[in-house]
Amino acid sequence: MNGKLIVFEGVEGCGKTSQIQLCCEWLGKDVAYKAFTSMVVTREPGGTDLGLHLRRLLLDAGEHPIADRTELLLFAADRSQHVEQKLKPNLAKGAIVLCDRYTDSTIAYQGYGRGLDINLINQINAIATGGLESDLTLWLDVNVEVALARKMKSGNLGDRLEKETIAFHRRVQQGYAELYASYPHRIVRVDASLEKEAVQAQIQGILTSQLHLLEGWKKRV
Ligand code: TYD
Repeated sequence: MNGKLIVFEGVEGCGKTSQIQLCCEWLGKDVAYKAFTSMVVTREPGGTDLGLHLRRLLLDAGEHPIADRTELLLFAADRSQHVEQKLKPNLAKGAIVLCDRYTDSTIAYQGYGRGLDINLINQINAIATGGLESDLTLWLDVNVEVALARKMKSGNLGDRLEKETIAFHRRVQQGYAELYASYPHRIVRVDASLEKEAVQAQIQGILTSQLHLLEGWKKRV
């Protein structure tokens, strides 16, 4: 794959969506980006047409309960379609892909949040991705209470997972902290408790050093 997959992760209200938007505007102007053929912004669940249907089922199941393993498999189905239809073809063409959530969300939410077996999730992630890993994952780390309060203030706290208990969201946060400790080469922590502009400045700093490294790497091969 010639392109690069950059993933944004974190608990509800960590600010991923607005940071991706700002990042996209900045990358569009930055020279580092010129090393890539195009820029693609996408998300999980819901990065494909089929995924949009799955997203609705997952986030708004109405009165119908979803069993934990069913939830895991639906996220995996969304990912498998996304990898085949969008991620792999764009990466093969040399795009830089900014993706809102990927495999670490499943570990954090279905593993730590729901309590499903992490080895099982790793196997299912491997099937869904066909082995495609992110080149870099930015973990937007913010205190759960602060993040949920932000969401509440924006009037946006309403889908099935967002309505989970505070204990659930704390376990998800713990999941991210443990993933960060286990994969320091792949996951970079961003202090997302700061103002929007300061968070964006950190992200730009990280991507600048990473993308320039990648440019150097491109010149060597
Ligand atoms: P997101 O699009 O980040 O929601 P919002 O934009 O409303 O903040 O994510 C959708 C939800 O799906 C979020 O609660 C996290 C959850 N999720 C999982 O539980 N497992 C997964 O594997 C993925 C990709 C998302």
